[in-house]
Amino acid sequence: MNKVAFFDTKSYDKESFNKFENENIKIRFFENKLNIDTVSMARGADAVCVFVNDSIDKEVINELSELGVGHIALRCSGYNNVDLKAAKGKVKVSHVPAYSPYAIAEHTMGMILTLNRKLHRAYIRTRDHNFSLESLIGFDLHGKTVGIIGTGKIGCAMAEICRGFGMEILGYDPFKNSNFCGKNVDLDELFKKSDIISLHCPLSKENYKLINKNTIEKCKNGVFIINTSRGKLVDTADVIAGLKSGKIGAAGLDVYEEETEVFFEDFSDEIIKDDTLSTLISMPNVIVTSHQAFLTREALNKIAETTMENLESFFEGKELKNEISV
Ligand code: NAI
Repeated sequence: MNKVAFFDTKSYDKESFNKFENENIKIRFFENKLNIDTVSMARGADAVCVFVNDSIDKEVINELSELGVGHIALRCSGYNNVDLKAAKGKVKVSHVPAYSPYAIAEHTMGMILTLNRKLHRAYIRTRDHNFSLESLIGFDLHGKTVGIIGTGKIGCAMAEICRGFGMEILGYDPFKNSNFCGKNVDLDELFKKSDIISLHCPLSKENYKLINKNTIEKCKNGVFIINTSRGKLVDTADVIAGLKSGKIGAAGLDVYEEETEVFFEDFSDEIIKDDTLSTLISMPNVIVTSHQAFLTREALNKIAETTMENLESFFEGKELKNEISV
């Protein structure tokens, strides 16, 4: 029997993974995130399963290796939180390369529609018996230009949705994708021409804080910035400055630079200590969702299925087709 320690688990993880537990794999669920303080909880496990805000740095990898953990199975696609260099030769790492690009793309469009048509404000108003339409004016998406940064699986799904709305679609990606239904342009042109910019690329050293003071300056006045990719693609302080000056018309953020200590948890009885996050959520033209874009039934099922396949392949010594390494 192979044992797997699951970190940072919620009720929906348990629900979707319990269905796939079998006689070869015994799952132990922990609510704690995996980091240097909690790594000892992996004692006795043959593999660990982690999510987006676990910190799998060099120290954690060395500890895991000493504990005899041979595999880190990410139950997500992004892997910027794993030190792959440190893992090389010590621990195998796998991820879920694709589960439902539609889940993320549809959430992205949901954010755009909400911000543009101010549905979040209308919802509160009518509940308060306020039926006024003052300050609720939006714009037609039809004919507007969306700039998609990262034209991989999610970027392409997003482009198809935007095409359905009759939008002009621009895309930037260092690797052109023949499935992308928009026009490939360089970043400067995308910044200059887009009414809405949506981020769909992985976080890397090259694109760390890609949305910053300088790039915001190149954008159209009133541009919408939508980030459902990774928080550190955006300099949040610069986005707040852009929102305050009116250069940025709205921001939809499903991810946030400092999300690790806050997202996925309930702080409704507490005062938020992160002033930057408090400023963002106080703004009427900002929507923050808590890394929620992936959260559909279809995506959760596919994540569980692929993660269990990855674990089984590792335990059976088969080719690990979703392995990631440097
Ligand atoms: P993908 O690998 O299919 O596509 C990513 C694309 O980004 C690739 O075409 C790649 O060439 C491109 N790219 C890499 N560096 C770039 C750069 N500097 N500038 C522009 N493009 C660049 O990945 P997929 O499935 O489309 O996912 C994209 C990202 O979405 C993930 O890396 C992850 O960060 C994020 N994500 C967020 C979720 C959420 O719940 N909010 C859930 C799943 C993914």
